[in-house]
Amino acid sequence: MQHPNPDRIAQTDNPIHPLLAERYSPYVYEPKAVEPDKLRSCFEAARWAASSFNEQPWTFFVATRDDEAAWSQMLECLMEANQAWAKDAGALVLTVAARNFTRNGKPNRVAEHDVALAVANLTFQAMHTGLQVHQMAGINQAVARQTFDIPDGHDPVTALTIGYAAHPDAGADQDIAKRDRGQRQRKPLSEIVMAGKWGTSAEL
Ligand SMILES: Cc1cc2nc3c(=O)[nH]c(=O)nc-3n(C[C@H](O)[C@H](O)[C@H](O)COP(=O)(O)O)c2cc1C
Repeated sequence: MQHPNPDRIAQTDNPIHPLLAERYSPYVYEPKAVEPDKLRSCFEAARWAASSFNEQPWTFFVATRDDEAAWSQMLECLMEANQAWAKDAGALVLTVAARNFTRNGKPNRVAEHDVALAVANLTFQAMHTGLQVHQMAGINQAVARQTFDIPDGHDPVTALTIGYAAHPDAGADQDIAKRDRGQRQRKPLSEIVMAGKWGTSAEL
């Protein structure tokens, strides 16, 4: 499968799986629906993520671009800056975390962590079928709660787009498309992997 934007493929210092290197958060999508079977597999992958005590504290709301009412309802839950590019994706998803364990009602300190694991599974399943995912913290939680009737004890966490990414040259709005240009940057391993004491890089 040809990568939609080869400049965005990670230039890694150590070898990693191609799916990991080829993931990026696109701002330019082909305004095209995602096939339902691919979407189902994305959520199936999310379903099989690990979670603390197998609590599975995730819930997803999904809207597809071919359902206009659901699409605009979901877009309204995003910050305006995100609506501007997310509107072209094939599917929009809102993630929700359950705050307390069902087994004992105690707070689940790692609920959002587990939601993120499920999103990571979803992301790489999506990529496996030629799709890309872009996550968003920029949502309006109050609007999302009201729109989807999300009960107490559950909080909207993020939204994400799933769709067919396109090259930035194909972007209608070049102010948006320019965010899809150039190489992606990361901190070096020496800054993020420590051993012994804070500030001491691990000797790997
Ligand atoms: C939890 C989370 C929230 C994010 N929120 C937003 C957002 O609201 N708007 C946006 O344009 N990008 C958002 N991003 C995308 C990040 O900016 C992006 O992942 C980061 O710049 C690294 O780029 P890459 O994903 O292409 O490697 C978010 C990413 C994550 C994981």
